[in-house]
Amino acid sequence: MPDLRDDVRDLFGAITGRDLDGLWSAPGRVNLIGEHTDYNAGLVLPFAIDRRTVVAAGARDDALIRVASTFSDQAVEIPLAELDDVRGRAGWADYPLGVAWALGRSGADLAAVPGVDLVIDSNVPVGAGLSSSAAIESAVALALDDLWRLGLSRPDLARVGQLAENEFVGAPTGIMDQTASLLGRADAAVFLDCRSLETESIPLGFAAAGLTLLVLDTGVAHAHATGGYRERRASCEAGAAALGVATLRDLTIDDLPRARAELDDVTFRRVRHVVTENQRVLDVVRALREDGPAAIGALLDASHASMRDDFEISVPELDLAVETALENGAIGARMTGGGFGGAAIALTPVDAVSRIQVAIDGAFAEHGFAAPEVFPVRPSDGAARDS
Ligand code: GLA
Repeated sequence: MPDLRDDVRDLFGAITGRDLDGLWSAPGRVNLIGEHTDYNAGLVLPFAIDRRTVVAAGARDDALIRVASTFSDQAVEIPLAELDDVRGRAGWADYPLGVAWALGRSGADLAAVPGVDLVIDSNVPVGAGLSSSAAIESAVALALDDLWRLGLSRPDLARVGQLAENEFVGAPTGIMDQTASLLGRADAAVFLDCRSLETESIPLGFAAAGLTLLVLDTGVAHAHATGGYRERRASCEAGAAALGVATLRDLTIDDLPRARAELDDVTFRRVRHVVTENQRVLDVVRALREDGPAAIGALLDASHASMRDDFEISVPELDLAVETALENGAIGARMTGGGFGGAAIALTPVDAVSRIQVAIDGAFAEHGFAAPEVFPVRPSDGAARDS
């Protein structure tokens, strides 16, 4: 983190020749449980992680927005009034530009606010399913809200980030990632009801229970703007419509026999995943409260099985990572995030960490898969102004 801050500060000076007005940062997230439930108005339980995106920002005396980063040579400069023209076409810069655009759609008067320079650095791995994009959106949203004195709440800023991602970047994702990034707390998960948008902080206590949360990043690339993610969302919407409910949140386990009778097999299994996953989120929250984190392993495993068999969004690398972690001492493991690649998580006794790391490296090599990255993450605080 000190390095990231120094890097963006230096780059900001080199690019603008000025001092910055402030530094803001926001974390990536791991979803503990509740997958593909957010856009079905369901329940999720993510937490913010100790990997962050840092934004150095400074107001300009014109009406341009300029974005640059330490991870791309591509800098973009455009009048705030013309953001619409580059919608979906600015590569990585779509995320910060999309946030400025979405603030305009959410009440900010882009003709009245000052232009801005944004310089971004990040140590959230890209493509691992850890929401590097939401980390950028949340850090930029908080920075612009401060610089432009908009006074939006954190839940409002989460909606701004989602709007940027849905309408500017063009990925039909839900509200979970931005909420985790903006509302996360150290050593706790964010229990979010995506229907009411109410949140509650749920203590995790991994370290106190002698547990570590490992990320098992397969390195398999995924993209949510296209392909499977969009298709799954469409199946869920079709299932809800066929069953006469507004969203799949309106169904419970008791509705599954009727769903099986009325839906084709594939749509039924998509629906069953979402309905049972909502229940598993409730069960995990209750287990955390009553018995502590050592009690949630079987629920994590059941979530993975449901995504593998019913929702069909796992890949062989994710299944192998999960199985190998469980065979080598993890108490629960599941893929996390949108699927079709990215990472799995394994809740692991501290003394099993190195055995699991070695076993996963070995298993991937044996199967001819590219070397995975296995590393611990700590439930951490959400977005903040750092200076
Ligand atoms: C991605 C999306 C989220 C959510 C998950 C699946 O991370 O950005 O909104 O839908 O996939 O749970």
